[in-house]
Amino acid sequence: MIPQDFIHQLLDRVDIVEVVDRYVPLKKKGANYMACCPFHGEKTPSFTVSPTKQFYHCFGCGAHGTAISFLMEHAGMGFVEAVKELADRTGMTVPDDGQRKPEDGRRDRLLAVMEQAAQHYKGLLKDSAKAVDYLKGRGLDGRTAAAFGLGYAADEWQGLVAAVADYQDGALEEAGLVIVNEGKRYDRFRDRVMFPIRNERGRVIAFGGRVIGQGEPKYLNSPETPLFHKGRELYGLYENRRGIQQAGRAVVVEGYMDVVMLAQHGVDNALATLGTAVTPDHVAKLFKLVDDVVFAFDGDNAGRKAAWRALENSLPQLPDGKRATFLFLPQGEDPDSYVRQAGREAFEKLCDEARPLSDFLFDELSVRAEPDSPEGKVRLVKLVEPYLAQLAKAPLLARSLRQRLAALSGLGGMETRRRPPGHGAPRPPARPRAALPSPARVVLQAILHKPERLANLPELASGGDEDTTQLAAVLAVLREHPELADVNRLESFYQGRPEETMVRAAAVALLQWSEDYDSEADLRGAWATLIEQSARRQAHAFAGRKLSDISAEDRANYMAALKEKKLDRLSAVKPDR
Ligand code: UTP
Ligand code: MN
Repeated sequence: MIPQDFIHQLLDRVDIVEVVDRYVPLKKKGANYMACCPFHGEKTPSFTVSPTKQFYHCFGCGAHGTAISFLMEHAGMGFVEAVKELADRTGMTVPDDGQRKPEDGRRDRLLAVMEQAAQHYKGLLKDSAKAVDYLKGRGLDGRTAAAFGLGYAADEWQGLVAAVADYQDGALEEAGLVIVNEGKRYDRFRDRVMFPIRNERGRVIAFGGRVIGQGEPKYLNSPETPLFHKGRELYGLYENRRGIQQAGRAVVVEGYMDVVMLAQHGVDNALATLGTAVTPDHVAKLFKLVDDVVFAFDGDNAGRKAAWRALENSLPQLPDGKRATFLFLPQGEDPDSYVRQAGREAFEKLCDEARPLSDFLFDELSVRAEPDSPEGKVRLVKLVEPYLAQLAKAPLLARSLRQRLAALSGLGGMETRRRPPGHGAPRPPARPRAALPSPARVVLQAILHKPERLANLPELASGGDEDTTQLAAVLAVLREHPELADVNRLESFYQGRPEETMVRAAAVALLQWSEDYDSEADLRGAWATLIEQSARRQAHAFAGRKLSDISAEDRANYMAALKEKKLDRLSAVKPDR
């Protein structure tokens, strides 16, 4: 556990605008910063980042949090990882409470040797005429090579001796840099152009090494290590993160060189799988990042097969409202060769015109089923159904495709059979009513706006509606712990508890109040309403009861409230008989 105090200090020092802007380019608008929300698809920005309150909030989908939660939700970091990342940037050291898991230290050690190797390979590239000539021959320029951190592994059995303090260090083996065979230790990568594979944070977690010219294997990749699981990683995620965000689209290609050359030609939103088929983990990661994923494959047979696997693995992960499309390059081309000869616009046009997943699915299966006979139509239904059944996260798409299947096959009615009775068309989500803010919420907002007011605020009698009860509890906590009078701290204090909703609402409303806004009148008005409401409520509670049943204290309070507020509920209390 990292002490809460440290988290507070960290968030005080970090600037959330800077953190978010690295992933999602922000534009200043009034006191806040805005962008199209990275957590859901939208055309007009409703994602707001407050530099004074240090949180983000999306008015569209409700995404909300601090710099730490942003790194967790958007960049996919774990809590500790996010805290460390921010601490690194601000020059703070995360306190070690002795509870650090041993594997944390191990992981750091592996990352350290990977970084040393990457620097080493990078340095060697400049001095290797052979490697430089090879890359130049492929049309790669120095700027792009540097942006992707390309390197060269020398033609030596123990080249890494020069890069690390101790070549015998077991971390080299565990990181996949060194191979041990019959007591001999030697470098895995020799005489290859090196592509470092970086995670979201820019840390080198693996390498791909390409043979120079002809040779087998063409690409040698790092093995699975504690740092690297190829079924989850995507090459280019770090280098192209802004390009992807700006385009709102990711193009998934097959090769390292495809990503690099596309970027050089201005297509800076490509990612590559690492010599594996597209996995469900990849797809889940992609749709967390963007709403629009284009899978680009070579036009050959292998490309078609790979595309079909990508389709199969996409089905369970495709959420309604998001798009997966497929494009096939002309025979004999890959994105690298295509963009070099046809240019960026031509490639982007291919992406724009890529075939929707549903068309790809129906076209392929129609070819197999030959649905021009009744038998063929039945075959088509039998072929398509199992695929549609996998659209677990896209029930609407599945419905629509069942209708299409019914039309194509002439076999309607399957839909009704599959659905239990009483389930008509899904109702559109209820539009949230524009509720007036509760006075309790406004009071809390005004306190969080100027926490020094807390000292002068009278005690709030307990009882009343939920909001008022919660406010009374929150105010009591704030009196006890004035350091919590900050939106982010208070929200994290109440995380997962009923009060969280009100604290969140107050935080969001604060986006409308600049630092120098005079909220005194808001506070006074809300406070008066609270008092009045509580008197009314009491009157209501007494309604129908005999005066003699009401305790003397309650009666006195009630009378006082009546006098003050001239309540109109006098008749509600029955006179004593
Ligand atoms: P390709 O064989 O299509 O090569 O492999 P490429 O990307 O066009 O490579 P260049 O242009 O000749 O340099 C596509 C991807 O499959 C993986 C790599 O990730 C490669 O980028 N691959 C390929 C391997 O992992 N090992 C191999 O031996 C070959
Ligand atoms: Mn290629």
